[in-house]
Amino acid sequence: MTKTWLITGTSSGFGKELAQIVAANVDNNLIATARKMSDLDYLDKYDDSKILKVILDVTDTPKIKDVVKSAYDRFGKIDVLVNNAGLGYFSTIEESDMQQVHYMFDVNVFGLANMTNAVLPIMRKQKNGIIVNLSSALALTTLPTMGFYSATKYAVEGYSDTLRQEVSDLGIQVMNVEPSGARTNWSGRSSKKVKPTINDYQKFSDDINSVPDSVTSAPGDPQKIAQVIYNQVINGKELPKHLPLGQFAFEGGISNLESIVDEIKSRRDLSVSTDD
Ligand SMILES: NC(=O)c1ccc[n+]([C@@H]2O[C@H](COP(=O)([O-])OP(=O)(O)OC[C@H]3O[C@@H](n4cnc5c(N)ncnc54)[C@H](OP(=O)(O)O)[C@@H]3O)[C@@H](O)[C@H]2O)c1
Repeated sequence: MTKTWLITGTSSGFGKELAQIVAANVDNNLIATARKMSDLDYLDKYDDSKILKVILDVTDTPKIKDVVKSAYDRFGKIDVLVNNAGLGYFSTIEESDMQQVHYMFDVNVFGLANMTNAVLPIMRKQKNGIIVNLSSALALTTLPTMGFYSATKYAVEGYSDTLRQEVSDLGIQVMNVEPSGARTNWSGRSSKKVKPTINDYQKFSDDINSVPDSVTSAPGDPQKIAQVIYNQVINGKELPKHLPLGQFAFEGGISNLESIVDEIKSRRDLSVSTDD
């Protein structure tokens, strides 16, 4: 069955890989967004009657509405929204530049929420739809120097878990994908890095200095990640609410979540003691 996909941030990384998988399947329509039109030239080899290429910066809220309208006008439906556009930020909490942190929240959280709000009326009318949110392994566990990035992705998790409860009986599913480090531009040009200058945080310098290396050698294969996302969406079964991908997300996520559960359970009497 023909599916119409709207994917943000298709200039590189997961978004680009997924856009190619979607475009290569004749059953699909694709609305591919990027901040620069020339970044979408790679789509020219596919059937252009099924592809709409659009310029979109997800912090431009009025433009989001225009993009969703033009997508709907062109294809008459939107079955799958993939909120993929995102960036990173490496710094200790105390040394973070709050203006840059705000900008990351604008992209990773409010951009995603504004995209979703623009598409939801269409999905409610259709009585079906799939929203895929690119979260992160760092929304299941945390690492020093990644605090504010994690905060954006934990925000995506809380947002998505609530949205799912509000729309599940309207035929709309929400899946959070939580990849481990993967070989994309994310920790390269898509991330700001603030080297510690406070002596007490010097021990984290190596974490930040080694970031570009870790991305070229990161275990995650963006093509495989995109294929798993695609397969989950098209297999017609109920989607996972959470989809950790890669060893770090799986093991690190379980270990952190279990330790939280263990700690909470160990203080049951104290926890419930505050109710009358
Ligand atoms: N790679 C990883 O290790 C990893 C792990 C877990 C989660 N993630 C998440 O996966 C998603 C995709 O990242 P990626 O790894 O594929 O990195 P990437 O290759 O750097 O791709 C990021 C995409 O987001 C776009 N983008 C950034 N700011 C934008 C804005 N204001 N408006 C619209 N688009 C914007 C970029 O566009 P430009 O080309 O114009 O900059 C690019 O298309 C992100 O949400 C990221 O947080 C990545």
